[in-house]
Amino acid sequence: LARGGLAQDLAGRHVVISAGGTREPLDPVRFLGNRSSGKQGYALARSAAARGARVTLVAANAALPDPAGVDVVPVGTAVQLREAVLKAAADADAVVMAAAVADFRPETYAAGKIKKKDGQEPAPIALVRNPDILAEVAGDRRRPAQVVVGFAAETDDVLANGRAKLARKGCDLLVVNEVGERKTFGSEENEAVVLGADGSETPVPYGPKEALADTVWDLVAARLS
Ligand code: CTP
Ligand code: CA
Repeated sequence: LARGGLAQDLAGRHVVISAGGTREPLDPVRFLGNRSSGKQGYALARSAAARGARVTLVAANAALPDPAGVDVVPVGTAVQLREAVLKAAADADAVVMAAAVADFRPETYAAGKIKKKDGQEPAPIALVRNPDILAEVAGDRRRPAQVVVGFAAETDDVLANGRAKLARKGCDLLVVNEVGERKTFGSEENEAVVLGADGSETPVPYGPKEALADTVWDLVAARLS
């Protein structure tokens, strides 16, 4: 699996990556979802495998081919993603939460398709909070040396919001992207800043998602050794 000249600096390590976006069902045919393509998480999985890691990729609704040599665990909802991530994290050296996890899910699931009724306004959809998986993994490290990485897409005050989110989640690294109309979702390219709990700030210039993935693993590998 080695790429030309690339260090096997993750050999012997187990890394867990979540990718894609969760879907929260309303009824058998409808869901609340988001625009995450899964491309960044899959790039992280390919990069980690190329650097020698054993990789578990918890994939939420990503229509992408399984990366070679990677253990792919498909999930649908945030609750399913939590189960799969916590299970895989038990013996992981690093956990990277690249998935877009729905903050809320419909309070009730209708076993039959919701129908409209003549002359009636639609009922509002009641939502409840989903568990915060990143905060849970970071707050309950299965191994003291485990490195926990989050992602955040922000539209305003990107760095200030990123710093606050890093502290709130308790993770070691937070990859912060600025999102807008044409930026990030579904694209092949990304631009980001990786914030460290140690105060570090690593800018990643606009470029392929593979380059951002490699920078994330550089920072993780430095914290593992
Ligand atoms: N995340 C998570 N569980 C959730 C929500 C988010 O694990 N229920 C993770 C994401 O995978 C990501 C990080 O937390 O790595 C930041 O997600 P983001 O949506 O930016 O953070 P939130 O705390 O949900 O803040 P916001 O209100 O800005 O959406
Ligand atoms: Ca959120």
